Order: sequence, then structure tokens, then C-alpha cells
Amino acid sequence: MNDLAGKHIVLGLSGGIACYKAAELCRALVKEGATVQVVMTEAAEQFITPVTMQALSGRPVYGSQWDSREPNNMPHINLSRQADAIVIAPCSADFMAKLLHGRADELLSLMCLARPVDKVPLLLAPALNREMWAHPATQRNMAQLAADGAHVLGVGSGFQACGETGDGRMLEPEQLTQDIVAFFQPKLLAGKRVLVTAGPTFEAIDPVRGITNLSSGKMGFAIARAAREAGAEVTLVAGPVSLPTPRGVVRIDVRSAQDMFDATQPQALLADIFIATAAVADWRVANPSAKKMKKDGSGKVPELAFTENPDILAAVASSSRARAGELFCVGFAAESHDLASNAQAKRIRKGVPLLVGNIGPATFGADDNALLLVDEHGSQEVPRAAKLELARLLVAEIANRL
Ligand code: C5P
Repeated sequence: MNDLAGKHIVLGLSGGIACYKAAELCRALVKEGATVQVVMTEAAEQFITPVTMQALSGRPVYGSQWDSREPNNMPHINLSRQADAIVIAPCSADFMAKLLHGRADELLSLMCLARPVDKVPLLLAPALNREMWAHPATQRNMAQLAADGAHVLGVGSGFQACGETGDGRMLEPEQLTQDIVAFFQPKLLAGKRVLVTAGPTFEAIDPVRGITNLSSGKMGFAIARAAREAGAEVTLVAGPVSLPTPRGVVRIDVRSAQDMFDATQPQALLADIFIATAAVADWRVANPSAKKMKKDGSGKVPELAFTENPDILAAVASSSRARAGELFCVGFAAESHDLASNAQAKRIRKGVPLLVGNIGPATFGADDNALLLVDEHGSQEVPRAAKLELARLLVAEIANRL
């Protein structure tokens, strides 16, 4: 993806062992299409060399406010005026304290102070030992920096370079990249609660076998991510898939259609938007065996009987909140032919204002898809694109209709 195309990011490194992760972060930002200008403090240069950062960013690194390469000798002004965002990663305890007091005795803090606060956001990725993180001074500084308009990314928790375990780790480069991408997305669903179902379901035949389908969950996970990026609180009820949970999304793992139904019902009472992307099994085995079914050599085959599963979407869409317009429901339809007419019929049958049609065999497992948005007025094609891109479009469509 090129989620940061056209963005110019000033990546500031203050001194800390997490500087080694800044190299990966720089690379990930460039991969997403950003141009990256690195600025390092003297302390940061103890941990990683400007040579490394220059090679990865493709630009000479700045480290001194007396840098004569700048015609006006004002790198703090020039660098901060060009940036779409300043990201400090790692942000040390000392650097936080400097920012808090508006100190400006070296280039990085000087540049942060000189930035136009309304135009150039400041994103901080703290990296501290757990005791340093928990210290009242740090917590006080963090709260004040947030009140001054800085955005704090993280922190992570886990094993620390000092050998201790706890909060204060810098987020991983991949997580920071996702957070920076999310930061730039328009907050179309701020304050909204979104519930998403995703993936296949698994209906047990016996303790080791079952019936499932080819849904990968990618579209639903992309929608959960896009809704989160748009500022919503997102709960994702996921069937058996091995996809990573999108940043900031609450995930509930389920297996069968009945599990998915049971997990979804209470969540739907809290949601403003319900998006049902899961490929839910229509039937479950009525007579699953408690023990593994064995061949007995007689050639006799087991007989399976089926019971219909509850329809999660139809149940939520017919709830009093949905009927009162407090909960906007969106369904999906994976068809193999006659998409427009089948999808419109399904929309009416499910009782939802918006149904998203796609051709099942062409989307299952793929990273891209093409959609057909169907509402009471008719249908609108959304051409083939990456699922995350489609998910963002769908989020914008939904936000428009609220
Ligand atoms: O009826 P069909 O399975 O084609 O409908 C697809 C839509 O209904 C999807 O949005 C799917 O998530 C939802 N659905 C559901 N519960 C079911 C069956 C489908 O929520 N038992």
C-alpha cells in the first residue's frame, strides 16, 4: 500500500536503546510512500549512526542547529515548515521533559518548539524503562504534553532491554506505522461504536472434524481497521482465522455460528453501526458426535443431519434499536452470479438499508475485491481495489448515510 504517499514526515530520534527500532520505522514509512527527514539528538547518535538513518531515508540527517547546509542557517524553521507531521521515536524521558518546558538548546527540541502547532502535528512514541514510565513525573509530563496537543503513540508492554518486564516499551515499527497511517485518516466515525463480524464459522461434526468455508476474514478485518482509523470504537467478532488484530480493535474470537450469534447480540445493544461481513454457515450438524467417529471397516458411512443456524444479521436488523434508527446495519452478500438482483433481494430479505455485494469465488482469500453497493435507490459499482482501500470507501459511505 501507499498509505503515506505525499506525506513528508520528520522523524526525530532522541537517545534510547529503542533507536534500533527507528531504522525499521524509517524504512516502513518510506515503503508506505512517505518522504522521511531524520533529525537526531547527540544522545541518539550514541545508539545508532546517522549513516544508517541517511541510507534508509535517502536524505542527509540533521543533528545540529548550526548546520551551515541551510542557506539561512535555520534548520529548525525550514525542517518544521516542510513537515506534515513530526514523529519523535524514540521519545526519551529527558526529551519529554524538554518538550514540556519548551526548552530549545539543541536542534530537535528547538524544531519542535518552532513548529506551527496548528499545522504540524507532533506524535510521540515514548521508550522508557518501566519504573521511568510509571514515575509520577513521567505521567504528569505525558498528561501535560497531551494537553498541549501532542499525540502519544503507545506505549507497549513486555520484555525490556534492561532485563525487566513491564510498560514503557516503544511500539514496534509496524504498530507505529499503522498508528501514523491511522492518524492521517479523516475521523468520519469519531465517537461511534462499530461492531463487525468477520471470517468463516466452523460447525463441528465431531471433536476433530467440522464444516467450514473459504472466507479468509480479510475484508472484515480491513473494515474493522478502517473504522478504527476513522475514530470509532470497534469490536470485531471473528470466526477461526489467523489474521492479526488491527490496532486498537477489541477482538472476540468465536468458532461456530451459534457462538458468533451469542457474542454479537449483547454487543449490538451498544453499537451505532453493525457490519456483518462474516460468512456464517447456514446449517450446523444436528447430531455432532461427542467422540471422534471411526471407520469400523464395514464400509458404512456416517449420516449427518442438519439444523438451520440463527441469522445474526437478520436478528440484529430486526431489533428495536435498528428499527428505531439507532443502529445502522450493513450486510454482505457473496454471490456467484446475477449480483445486482440477488443482492437487492437479499437486502430486502435481511431488512438492512445497505448491502454490499461481491462475487464470492473472486474474493475469498484475495487481497483485493470489487464491490456493489446496494440500497433502496439502486446499486453502485466500486471498482476492484485493495480490501483496505475498499474498506475506507465503505466507511465513508456509511458515515455519509448516518
Ligand atoms: O444469507 P446470506 O448468508 O447470503 O447472507 C449474507 C449476509 O448475512 C452477510 O452479511 C452475513 O454476515 C450475514 N449472515 C449472518 N448470519 C447468518 C447468515 C448470514 O449474519 N446465519
